[in-house]
Amino acid sequence: MRRLTFLAVLAVLAASCSASTAAPSKPHPPTHATPEQEARADQLLTGPDWYRHAVVYEVDVRSFQDSNADGIGDLAGLTSRLDYLKGLGVDAIWLMPIMPTAFKDSGYDVSDYRDISKDYGDMAGFDALLAAAHQRKIRVLMDLVLNHTSSQHAWFQDSRASKTGAKADWYVWSDTPGRADIGCGTDSPQFGDSAWTFEPARNQYYFHRFYPEQPDLNYRNPAVVAETLDTVKFWLTKGVDGFRCDVIGLLFESATGCDMIPETVDYIKQLRGVLDQFPDRAMVAEASIGGATPYFGSGKDMFHMAFDFPYGYFWSLAFLGQNRQIAYDAFNTVVTAYPPGAQDAVPIGSHDVGRAWGKARGYAWRQQRAVEISMFTKATPFVYYGEEVGLHDGTAIVVDSRDSARTPMPWTKASGYGFSPAKPWIDFAEAADQTNVETEDGDPDSMLSFYRALLAFRRGHPVWGTGDMRLIPLDNPAVLALVRQNAEEAYLVVESFSEDPQEASAPQAGLPTPGAVVWGDGQASVDGSTLHVKLAGAASAVFKLGP
Ligand code: NOJ
Ligand code: CA
Repeated sequence: MRRLTFLAVLAVLAASCSASTAAPSKPHPPTHATPEQEARADQLLTGPDWYRHAVVYEVDVRSFQDSNADGIGDLAGLTSRLDYLKGLGVDAIWLMPIMPTAFKDSGYDVSDYRDISKDYGDMAGFDALLAAAHQRKIRVLMDLVLNHTSSQHAWFQDSRASKTGAKADWYVWSDTPGRADIGCGTDSPQFGDSAWTFEPARNQYYFHRFYPEQPDLNYRNPAVVAETLDTVKFWLTKGVDGFRCDVIGLLFESATGCDMIPETVDYIKQLRGVLDQFPDRAMVAEASIGGATPYFGSGKDMFHMAFDFPYGYFWSLAFLGQNRQIAYDAFNTVVTAYPPGAQDAVPIGSHDVGRAWGKARGYAWRQQRAVEISMFTKATPFVYYGEEVGLHDGTAIVVDSRDSARTPMPWTKASGYGFSPAKPWIDFAEAADQTNVETEDGDPDSMLSFYRALLAFRRGHPVWGTGDMRLIPLDNPAVLALVRQNAEEAYLVVESFSEDPQEASAPQAGLPTPGAVVWGDGQASVDGSTLHVKLAGAASAVFKLGP
């Protein structure tokens, strides 16, 4: 699809030709997996390696489904939508923070680690969600925000009150706005220009990498280490399947470094030790934007997965420049630098990364190629709620500018879009009357049908989660090619970053003549040892290799 302005989107969607794929003349791929695929998926998703074969779906509970007409999404609402997620092909959900919070950073400011925010329900509601998800074989990952608490947390209230209280040393204090042994400040201008805020009661400053309402915990205090690890046990004992660990590289600071310094690495190993006491649990790191390699340790003693932000944040640049380099480098790092056992985790949108639709600048085909890449590389793909309907950005701001990607899920065409009968806590994104589940449900050309088909195509084929990956250095930088292979099957994947038709070759590719096209459309042949591929504009193709 060509670039769409808002009005053009309406016109084009009204003409029922949204989200066109590269080959409209081909029959649409099935949107449901076969019973055989489901049976195999069941096997793959059982046991300790489940996360390698899962499709994970990030949910902003506040914006997913309201159940009690207060305009705020909640746990009961999410529970009522689990069948939708199952039908989409989701195997695990990651819940953005649902603990009590002052909501100065959308819940990433926790004021009680062992409770549920009243906005979202209560512990019984959480237990009910967990049971309902597990009954459907959907795993539940929680957001674990350990670097800092809310300034409203009882620990900080105690700590800020005096230098002698029980929690006096649970946070990072200084007589001056800086400390020689802490060589870092705030993460981004969004969070203010100083990492130190004055507290009159102590006549001291406290350290915070994010908003002043998010004081950093003092991990050099063994009591903080013990309490946070015990909190982790609390949730694991309840039965959660694991965690997404917020800015976990920032726990300890030193004069010369604040990101994944040895003390933090040691803590993460302890954290992994706690998870390993429970069967089949997994955790994913919110790694640094620069790269995730340090989060894996030996491949067995730190994170099971870490986000691939070099691709997740920057994939849109590959389309702007019609050049695969960003994607190629990101996945080359996975192949060459990750330790054995490490599993890449690939989002194309998130509550921080932003909406995939916006990153695709309104080109449906760009979002489709980008998400295919997340599904065809050796990775666990992470889908952000609403991405599957091509949800646009919103304009309302309640907390900060990232709210553009945190708007309510539009389920129906009706007024209120089926999210809530009440005014939602934040306005819907633009074009919600077109980009909603009901409108897209029966439309084979919709983004929703595309996502369902893509997840169904991949389902129950372990080659996508864990098969070996080899990048093929085509002579045309507008095309990415990779080979995925395990003992059972092998595929050649080609993805174009250009709207124009492309041809590309790779001498010495060492491939057999590609067979049937099993996804998308294109041509591939082998001449001697040279691979030749041809793609229509904006297209992709997956070829079967071997018998
Ligand atoms: C990363 C979270 O994803 C982001 O939304 C938050 O603002 C910071 N960590 C601080 O917790
Ligand atoms: Ca509610």
